[in-house]
Amino acid sequence: MNDLDTLVQAARADFDAAHQGAELENAKARYLGKSGSLTDLLKGLGALPAAEKKSRGGEINRAKAAIEAALQAARERLAAEELAAQLRAEALDVTLPGRRRGTGGLHPVSRTIERIEAIFASMGFDVAEGPEIETDWMSFTALNNPENHPARSMQDTFYVDIKDNQGRWLNLRPHTSPMQVRYARAHAARHARDIADGSPMPEIRVIAPGRTYRVDSDATHSPMFHQCEGLWMGENISFKDLKVVFTSFVREFFETDDFDLRFRPSFFPFTEPSAEIDIAFRSGPLAGRWLEVAGSGQVHPNVVRNYGLDPERHIGFAFGMGPDRLAMLRYGIDDLRLMFDGDLRFLSQFN
Ligand code: DAH
Repeated sequence: MNDLDTLVQAARADFDAAHQGAELENAKARYLGKSGSLTDLLKGLGALPAAEKKSRGGEINRAKAAIEAALQAARERLAAEELAAQLRAEALDVTLPGRRRGTGGLHPVSRTIERIEAIFASMGFDVAEGPEIETDWMSFTALNNPENHPARSMQDTFYVDIKDNQGRWLNLRPHTSPMQVRYARAHAARHARDIADGSPMPEIRVIAPGRTYRVDSDATHSPMFHQCEGLWMGENISFKDLKVVFTSFVREFFETDDFDLRFRPSFFPFTEPSAEIDIAFRSGPLAGRWLEVAGSGQVHPNVVRNYGLDPERHIGFAFGMGPDRLAMLRYGIDDLRLMFDGDLRFLSQFN
């Protein structure tokens, strides 16, 4: 092997050893640069006798071409390596499972309220919603609960630190019964002309579900809970109608005929007579136990007057039930607090 072959080999080895562009360029300078080995050889040509010059010159040029080819190959190798590294760094692992967005679902109480609404709507009832922050008059006085009457303390009301225009604290409504008054007053105003000239008033048929609040908390009471008010007023509505409507509701709601209903005399200031409605299933885990599901009664004349109607002409009944309780009975839930803890292990069972 002559000196040129050795030089070409050394250059190839140096170029192959380079792992970065800068290393390669330094190696190039050692062979092909201004004072590189090959350049020196070419400079030395001038000193040779003319006879040798030509053949030596050809050999050196072939060696130079071989080194340049090796350099080009090394440059391409480095560029390919760099590209591969970049691709590796930016790689997307398409085999990773995607992140799912959970599908939401309805809370059992929301489902229950929707069910109540659908059943009453099928019996011609409107569905109304009203404010959760109420005036004293709406929550109590209009419902025949006179100021300072001891019955007011049946409901441990939350008060809001704001007064209404009569100078009374606003309250978080302790029941949905104010909605009887709001809805009936709007209805009376809408039909004021008929009512004034003695024409029959279109019936009021409404339910009003929503959140209610009381200072109360244990396994069967939550400071926030739900009620659904019902009101049916006309000129000829009686307790018999209440029985029919409520019995139909219970049958549809629980999808069974296998129960007894009992209207147990009770007291509410806004109804006279008043009854609590109890249900006993004839079969199943709760068979034979009387369970209270609603309060009800014929609307008290004082309340009818506060609706803006005439108690001599407009009569009807009201009821109030607890969707939380109904949901627990329907789904077999034994602790009310589960309903409001927001635990997905519990809630996802209903969806
Ligand atoms: N407001 C009553 C309560 O919270 C429930 C109730 C009883 C509503 C009788 C009524 C009714 O409309 O007639 O305990």
